Amino acid sequence: MNISTGLKMEKEICISKDEIMENLIAEGRKQKELHRRASVIRDKNVSRNIYFRGLIEFSNICKNDCYYCGIRKSNNKTIRYCMPREEILKAVEFCNEADYGSIVLQSGERRDKNFINSVVDTVREIKNRYPKIRITLCVGEQNKKTYQRFFDAGAHRYLLRIETSNKEHYKRLHPKEMSFENRKKCLKILKEIGFQVGTGVMVGAPFQTVENLADDLLFFKKIDVDMVGMGPFIPSDQVPLNYQGYNQERNLNLSLNMIAVLRLLMPDINIASTTALQALNPIGRELGLKAGANIIMPIVTPTRYRKNYLLYQGKPCINESSKDCLNCITNRIKSIDLNTAFGKWGDSLHFFKRVKNDSN
Ligand code: 5AD
Repeated sequence: MNISTGLKMEKEICISKDEIMENLIAEGRKQKELHRRASVIRDKNVSRNIYFRGLIEFSNICKNDCYYCGIRKSNNKTIRYCMPREEILKAVEFCNEADYGSIVLQSGERRDKNFINSVVDTVREIKNRYPKIRITLCVGEQNKKTYQRFFDAGAHRYLLRIETSNKEHYKRLHPKEMSFENRKKCLKILKEIGFQVGTGVMVGAPFQTVENLADDLLFFKKIDVDMVGMGPFIPSDQVPLNYQGYNQERNLNLSLNMIAVLRLLMPDINIASTTALQALNPIGRELGLKAGANIIMPIVTPTRYRKNYLLYQGKPCINESSKDCLNCITNRIKSIDLNTAFGKWGDSLHFFKRVKNDSN
């Protein structure tokens, strides 16, 4: 079926890889029409509610050395931090009062005992003190036992970007100690444990083709994820991997089109309009919502840490406070006539359908 006839039969939307690629490079009127269709499908399937996830970047200490990432372990210009638990809890308190409904605890990757125990204890304490809040973790590749401990402590969702679904491409972006197969395995384990699982890729990364991006979307569908967060690749002057061909406009457009086509392919999942979009365009996150996204992640990391969590150059909101971000994002959502879903968890509807089908 062609996307232009797909509106009434969301479940049967089936787009060939060629059509996906054609849509990914859409510009002008064609692009506008694609985004409009995607937002209609969003409205029908997951409503016009935009759900909040207060993002707490609680540590930038990382044992990985991804070639593209500003907080890679070899970047000795970054001042490393790990927020004390009470400070994390204060940030959660802010989210609770702002009625965000959900938080994301994100950090660099570590697998040492101290780190894991501390994440478990923090999740437990958040559950105790703020039972209304849903918790998403984004702390990288761990083993099954650890993921299970995180789940048992009260985390409901987990984000682990695959970064690229092409093994060869993955190898060009990561040092040899990092394994594409292990990352895929982690996603599988997370699903088996019962998390709502999110993944994603960087759009416009070095060595990436439009065909790779189409394959990324088909990969999300194949592994049947509940949530996706994708953002444009943005160079950093503190990493080895940068390249001549970087084109800001192209990466922004490709990222927005990725959101829109994904909404056509997976109508009931949660899709984030990510901060990186705003690094490339002052209204980048609004454009992401207009292209079919339904999740927004206001940063609630205390201001003094923000300049040390620079994954890429030009990250927005680094001098702002959590209150500034709350006001700013509220206004942004209202400016495009979507609903601010304060006080709602905004769980992935796809997750509930998936779990129901699995148990039948
Ligand atoms: N440009 C865009 N996104 C990046 N990330 C890391 N480095 C960059 C970059 N240079 C993204 C990765 C990671 C997420 C936390 O940040 O996709 O999973």
